[in-house]
Amino acid sequence: MGAHKRKPVGVMALARDPEPLREALGGIVLEKMRRRHLRRVLAIEAQVYPRPWSPTLFLSEIAQKNTRSYLVARHQGQVVGYAGMMFTGREAHVTNIAVDPAFHGRKVGSRLLVALVTEAIARGAETLSLEVRVSNANAQAMYAKFGFSVVGVRKGYYVETNEDALVMVAEGASSTDYRLRLQRIRDELATGDRGGHG
Ligand SMILES: CC(C)(COP(=O)(O)OP(=O)(O)OC[C@H]1O[C@@H](n2cnc3c(N)ncnc32)[C@H](O)[C@@H]1OP(=O)(O)O)[C@@H](O)C(=O)NCCC(=O)NCCS
Repeated sequence: MGAHKRKPVGVMALARDPEPLREALGGIVLEKMRRRHLRRVLAIEAQVYPRPWSPTLFLSEIAQKNTRSYLVARHQGQVVGYAGMMFTGREAHVTNIAVDPAFHGRKVGSRLLVALVTEAIARGAETLSLEVRVSNANAQAMYAKFGFSVVGVRKGYYVETNEDALVMVAEGASSTDYRLRLQRIRDELATGDRGGHG
């Protein structure tokens, strides 16, 4: 996985590396999303989605503490990403995940998803699910790393663009296999914390 990201970041390494910015970003702090984060959250939301969630929707989501979990990722104090999950019985559904475009591809999304999936397992979830745009290859690649696979299509799910959604699911979240997968992702992220020079 991503051998280029394990190289020391020297001049030569950068010269050979087509995507030097995909070095994992250290110093990310995750915390529960609060009202005070919404200004930055909404700014990111507007940048990455054609039909952003409203402030009211975020407020309603973060108020439902028993069945939702929303996190923000902060870098040097600034909110650079956020994600949320909804819990219903044995299923946990990713409702939203987004990263400031200036920080894409630097593992912020993976950190958020590890935290949410860990919480989902702790809450007894067996099935993890989400919808993703057919055209969103980057997000699909991230979900595949987390063991999600495509189980269906929702035609015209995104009304603003009439784009289809892929339904992706990861089953057996409490299994040893799945926990090991998650641990491998955590280990990879910890390497990034030490500077990505593993
Ligand atoms: C999707 C999104 C949340 C991913 O967050 P991120 O911090 O950029 O992703 P990460 O750096 O953690 O990458 C995780 C994996 O996703 C894939 N990926 C992410 N960005 C990528 C890029 N620019 N090029 C290729 N693959 C990419 C890779 O598989 C990557 O694993 P790798 O680094 O081991 O190759 C982010 O790109 C985003 O906010 N996109 C806009 C909003 C959105 O589409 N949300 C999802 C809606 S379903």
